[in-house]
Amino acid sequence: MAEENGKKWVLMVTAQTPTNIAVIKYWGKRDENLILPINDSISVTLDPSHLCTTTSVAVSPDFTEDRMWLNGKEMSLLGGRYQNCLRELRARASEVEDDEKGIKITKKDWEKLHVHIASYNNFPTAAGLASSAAGFACLVFSLAKLMNVKEDQSKLSAIARQGSGSACRSLYGGFVKWIMGKEENGSDSVAVQLADEKHWDDLVIIIAVVSSRQKETSSTSGMRETVETSMLIQHRAKEVVPKRIVQMEEAIKNRDFPSFARLSCADSNQFHAVCLDTSPPIFYMNDTSHRIISCVEKWNRFEGTPQVAYTFDAGPNAVLIAHNRKTAASLLHRLLFHFPPSSDADLNSYVIGDKTILQDAG
Ligand code: ADP
Ligand code: DP6
Ligand code: CO
Repeated sequence: MAEENGKKWVLMVTAQTPTNIAVIKYWGKRDENLILPINDSISVTLDPSHLCTTTSVAVSPDFTEDRMWLNGKEMSLLGGRYQNCLRELRARASEVEDDEKGIKITKKDWEKLHVHIASYNNFPTAAGLASSAAGFACLVFSLAKLMNVKEDQSKLSAIARQGSGSACRSLYGGFVKWIMGKEENGSDSVAVQLADEKHWDDLVIIIAVVSSRQKETSSTSGMRETVETSMLIQHRAKEVVPKRIVQMEEAIKNRDFPSFARLSCADSNQFHAVCLDTSPPIFYMNDTSHRIISCVEKWNRFEGTPQVAYTFDAGPNAVLIAHNRKTAASLLHRLLFHFPPSSDADLNSYVIGDKTILQDAG
């Protein structure tokens, strides 16, 4: 190490990863430690200029322990998920040489060296906008670069999965499927890209931030309680989702918006129904979320064919997918009319394209 020739050094890598929103949801694990799901899921990765995580990772012989700061606050890395990701990456680290700085880190050095991680989300954390997805994907991606891990995206997705299930899908852009896999060790539980970001670029995603407050029930504990107490979840995982996965893949392939919208809305609603079937029931959506659903449903019914799809993750915030730019403009117009930002309604932030309109609800 360069320490030996008396020089102090820090080697750093910064990466940015977008979040992804599931249109066929993952909810429920068959293995809590490896994070193996009970069904396949499909998501859309957002444009990195919208909701994303930026993570800088650094290594130096001066660091005495692994440390992490999230949105400027130091947090513990003791949780099994962070340790699992770090362990998997360290085991695959390889030699790094930086001639300019006179740094050489051998494979063996990585066993002893410590890392510092600083991560920022440019959107609400733990509020149901998939911060864990962007967060862990970025953590794994940036550390893999720093440690010169020579694995393909598929293997990295399996490592990110052990941080947060939904994170495995953020390693790819466009439309992504997380295959649940069959192996007990999780080796085949990986993400695959169904279509890249250019495949269906008419779609416009608008995110209506109903509340940026941290949710009461994290996704992890929520889905654990569902698996333990809901009878509906087994029916969903075994009977409903497998059929929807096939139909959704077909809809994406054919750019069939009506089918895409019907499946997305139905799956979001069934996911929230399963939350309600949990004991005690989990309420992720609120009155504003329900009003947004009614608004879109009425509009779609009036038009005779779906114009807009909605999906809600484990939180009250709406992810609205418009068929094209014209529909998106009309949707934004309706949202501003029904939920005027100056009123008492708690919905007062829309994210569209690369612009955030108005301030966050706080
Ligand atoms: P969300 O709906 O936002 O994904 P979750 O309950 O699934 O909410 O996960 C939130 C947790 O994800 C946070 O408490 C934190 O532990 C982790 N997380 C969020 N952002 C990051 C990040 N940038 N880097 C690492 N971990 C993160
Ligand atoms: C509703 O991936 O956040 O967003 O694996 O326990 O970290 P853990 O849970 P997480 O769950 C995401 C649930 C969801 C649906 C989805 O993204 O598929
Ligand atoms: Co999450």
